[in-house]
Amino acid sequence: MKNTVKNAIRHLVTKAYEVFAKDKNNISVVSLPGSVWEFETSVINHKDFADNFSKSYNLDMQLAECDNNIYDSNLRPISTLFPHNKVSSYALSRDFVKYYNQYLNTDIVKKAKSDNIFAWFDFCGNPTTQSLELINTAIGKNVTYVFTFNTHWRCDTNVDRDVLSFAKSIDNKPVAIHTFVEKIALNAGLTIVWSFEYISNHNPMITICISNDANVIAEKSFNINTVASKVKKVKVINKPTKRDLSAVYVDVKAKVDDKSICVKHNITVGTLAAVKAWVTMGK
Ligand SMILES: C[S@@+](CC[C@H](N)C(=O)[O-])C[C@H]1O[C@@H](n2cnc3c(N)ncnc32)[C@H](O)[C@@H]1O
Repeated sequence: MKNTVKNAIRHLVTKAYEVFAKDKNNISVVSLPGSVWEFETSVINHKDFADNFSKSYNLDMQLAECDNNIYDSNLRPISTLFPHNKVSSYALSRDFVKYYNQYLNTDIVKKAKSDNIFAWFDFCGNPTTQSLELINTAIGKNVTYVFTFNTHWRCDTNVDRDVLSFAKSIDNKPVAIHTFVEKIALNAGLTIVWSFEYISNHNPMITICISNDANVIAEKSFNINTVASKVKKVKVINKPTKRDLSAVYVDVKAKVDDKSICVKHNITVGTLAAVKAWVTMGK
């Protein structure tokens, strides 16, 4: 494929798979091959090599495609005499590969036979609620999940509401996506392995790898985290704004007792003292 950066991402994901696969007896792979199938082919080659020359392991692959035309074009080679797309037929001829013509959702991840799940959620689309929900399928499993999202959406109707409003408030889509993926991942016991932006076919994207797999987390060369520094900058710019204490001023001037004011406005004694000082100074 001509897209050099995307090639590099495929290579990175393939390397992450190799590290993940080390010493495992069984693995499930969940993926969106689209029209390319390079990652999926390399996984099958990895298993074949292990079966023949190294330590054999069980593999199942759960693959999805929501676009009917792409799905059909990938199936055609196994139903015609002259396969024009040998890559998909190579993968689809294996009995451990399942290919679904539907949206990739939590039900597909639940079809994974192994508790060791490596998933490349290569959406390259908007961060939807359904796609972010996939993170929670990691609970109780040993996983490495790689997400790719578009960071320059024009149409935002399917963007997760929380991500959308946060992105608007900080005027930064990659940071908003990173922040929400990290938050959900941490709750599920996963950490960020890498998180960086790239351009694919003129479209700005973000790739985020999250994992709870000891081998993948320990591989320091995967730690490419260029969005984290932007997260810090955004936090600095968005320092908490001063609270509106005008209602407190009114109560202080009306000589309401201190305790009632603190409870009513949920403020500390120190904040009340500051307000009183301003009132005393006639401000
Ligand atoms: C970016 S491409 C995958 C590219 C491939 N992984 C590669 O290495 O080039 C994404 C593919 O998944 C499909 N797709 C996108 N979002 C999907 C979803 N939520 N469920 C199922 N298929 C999806 C698209 O139609 C497209 O064919």
